[in-house]
Amino acid sequence: MMNIIKTKNYNEASRIAAGYFARAIQQKADALLGLATGDSPIGMYKELIRMHQEDLLHFDQVRTINLDEYKGLSPQNEQSYRYFMNQHLFQYVDIRESNTYVPDGLAADDMQECARYDTLLDKLGPIDVQLLGVGHNGHIGFNEPNDIFMKHTNCVDLTPSTIQANARMFHDAKEVPTQAYTMGILPIMMAKQVVIIVCGSAKASIVKAIIDGAITPAIPASILQCHQNVILIADEEALSLTK
Ligand code: GLP
Repeated sequence: MMNIIKTKNYNEASRIAAGYFARAIQQKADALLGLATGDSPIGMYKELIRMHQEDLLHFDQVRTINLDEYKGLSPQNEQSYRYFMNQHLFQYVDIRESNTYVPDGLAADDMQECARYDTLLDKLGPIDVQLLGVGHNGHIGFNEPNDIFMKHTNCVDLTPSTIQANARMFHDAKEVPTQAYTMGILPIMMAKQVVIIVCGSAKASIVKAIIDGAITPAIPASILQCHQNVILIADEEALSLTK
């Protein structure tokens, strides 16, 4: 059973989500946070930065591990997820760069990079709180609809719809990488708590499927119905089709 929190808007969703992460850090100074990119978490990161600036929250021992990264993009590339994390969170708080982990988009060997990330997850984990956004097709991280749930880190061929959805961040749709590294479903399911942020009417039908529909790898986020401690934070628009 998912715990569902309905909010008036994105800002309220961001504040509530930030509360879960702030509590995790307050309870455990070296908490391991599973982090995400995309539009959904930006407001939450702003809230965490505000708390830090007001001296309410410290990241000096916090560890973070990100869900995914585009294959072929360097940390300096403005579209890379490492760059996103620096821009939206890391540079504004007292986190140590050596405690932040993102897959290496420039790794020479896909299989070695996936194995390296899984070893890292085993060593650091389990994740205390995992943040997730949801793609329009129900993807989490970059785990795209599939015949099976991919358990471990894998290098994925992005679907045309995901490439199209993410093209808004690039100058040209042709610049969107066609492959990405993503954490598998297992470390997400092993996280002690999962916080999902979904807002806007464009996500209403996928939110309904995730909450009420079948558990199927065709909608990767549906597996979260099996997690013991999931908080889905959604605005009224995203919940408009859900009873
Ligand atoms: C991307 C990311 C996901 C993210 C999803 C939704 O493809 N890889 O981690 O959750 O898109 O993004 P948004 O929050 O911008 O809707």
